[in-house]
Amino acid sequence: MELLRDVVVLVHLVGFATLFGAWITELVSRRFRVSRVMDYGLLVSLLSGLALAAPWPAGIELNYPKLGIKLVLLVIIGGLIGTGGARQKRTGRAVPRAMFYAVGVLVLITAGIAVLW
Ligand code: HEM
Repeated sequence: MELLRDVVVLVHLVGFATLFGAWITELVSRRFRVSRVMDYGLLVSLLSGLALAAPWPAGIELNYPKLGIKLVLLVIIGGLIGTGGARQKRTGRAVPRAMFYAVGVLVLITAGIAVLW
């Protein structure tokens, strides 16, 4: 059970790496767009995060205020990527720069809360 939880944490980290890696790629290539890869990373982070939010194996202590804040941040990030993607489709142009940076900063803050709190 312990090993299974560790595997789910690994999947959760793959979700984070996918999301943040996709954002870094857009930043470095100076395209400043949101992408489907970000959607996939966010979805993997959400599903694995929810699995980890259940108290298993027995006896494990979870920090629910921290998890709640991460969930709220994930919903905000999803909203930005969702509306940004729709906007890109409509206009054909990259999302507003502030929106693009907000995605990366919020992902980093969420990971920071996970690791430092
Ligand atoms: C974009 C969103 C998210 C990012 C970037 C993220 C990032 C991370 C990272 C980097 C870790 C490893 C921390 C460590 O082991 O020291 C972690 C662990 C964890 N995450 Fe997330 N996470 C996100 C969303 C969520 C959500 C929505 C939930 C559940 C509601 C969640 C629940 C957990 C749990 C239970 C752990 C195991 C360690 C702990 O209890 O802190 N995460 N997350």
